[in-house]
Amino acid sequence: MAEKLVWGIMGAANIAIQKVVPGMLKDASSTVRGFASRDATKAAAASEHFGLATSYGSYEALLEDPEIEAVYIPLPNHLHVPWSLKALAAGKHVLCEKPIALDADEAAQLVAAREKSGRQVLEAFMVRQHPQWLRVREIAASGEIGDVALMQTTLSYYNVDPNNVRNKADIGGGALYDVGCYAVLLSRFVFGSEPLRAVALVDRDPVLETDRLTGAILDFGDGRQLSFATSTQLVPFQRTQILGSRGRIEVPVSLNAPQGETTAVVVDLTGAIDGSGIRTETIAACDQYTLQTAAAVRIFRGEEQPEFPIEDAVLNMRAIDALYRSGRSGGWETI
Ligand SMILES: NC(=O)c1ccc[n+]([C@@H]2O[C@H](COP(=O)([O-])OP(=O)(O)OC[C@H]3O[C@@H](n4cnc5c(N)ncnc54)[C@H](OP(=O)(O)O)[C@@H]3O)[C@@H](O)[C@H]2O)c1
Repeated sequence: MAEKLVWGIMGAANIAIQKVVPGMLKDASSTVRGFASRDATKAAAASEHFGLATSYGSYEALLEDPEIEAVYIPLPNHLHVPWSLKALAAGKHVLCEKPIALDADEAAQLVAAREKSGRQVLEAFMVRQHPQWLRVREIAASGEIGDVALMQTTLSYYNVDPNNVRNKADIGGGALYDVGCYAVLLSRFVFGSEPLRAVALVDRDPVLETDRLTGAILDFGDGRQLSFATSTQLVPFQRTQILGSRGRIEVPVSLNAPQGETTAVVVDLTGAIDGSGIRTETIAACDQYTLQTAAAVRIFRGEEQPEFPIEDAVLNMRAIDALYRSGRSGGWETI
């Protein structure tokens, strides 16, 4: 087997420490060299937590380490593109958190930077590697539930901490950036096409100024649509329904599938209103962050072409841009 790919972690972020690095450490094709932080003490503590010998007192120092082949970037949203560009320029591959940018034009800079660097840059949408979503896409494409016309997604949680990155409007906070991006992504994933226009009703927190409740529709044409609601200030809930002319698929835990545990995909081909006809498919235990890491390594090594290159991230941002525009204009916006 080829030597393990050497990762560096840019920022001692919660998501890195709680989910992504534990997932990475389980990937047989990866090794994690250390954390970088703006604060050397914090970097050392994060590395020590995982038994890693190396840490870096700045993001620049991480990029200067010739041992590092790839960086994982879990910074706040406004820093995704600037640090991805620096990492590519330093000759590193990049796996960067979602949403890849604040808008599509910013994201598009990564296409040119990837070409120039000869390195890969990927958006870390772990749901695309989770077998539950691969199975949903397979069922939808098989025709088993008939013509698929409607996706409905609700993604909410309650967080009013003004110090949380999600609640800072000037650095890319808000529900649509934070979790609405998944609703957009998964509809494009399941429909296998691009939305044409968008409309959104955006309610902003009067103090934080972030969108705390966004309800939206994406029109995919041919009578197909995504309708979704996403909130930072409602009870925690995640669910997706996909309705076809003959049946329905439900994804009970759409995003935060527990690491290392089974999940369920619910299929109803009977339409019995009392739910008596549902079939529950158990999806084998997995860790979507380990799968995400392994997929990135195969792409970085050139063993696989990305199904979702960074151009896909630009398209996802185009839909998000249109939704924010619609929130301001009050009308349909072309994507
Ligand atoms: N894929 C997923 O499942 C998932 C889940 C949650 C979040 N995310 C994404 O991951 C990213 C980080 O989210 P998080 O919840 O982990 O955030 P977080 O805990 O606040 O971490 C962000 C890190 O960025 C660094 N940073 C640099 N400049 C900063 C600034 N101006 N303000 C705050 N932090 C700054 C800090 O690291 P240092 O102090 O160490 O430099 C901080 O620890 C976001 O883009 C989010 O959308 C993804």
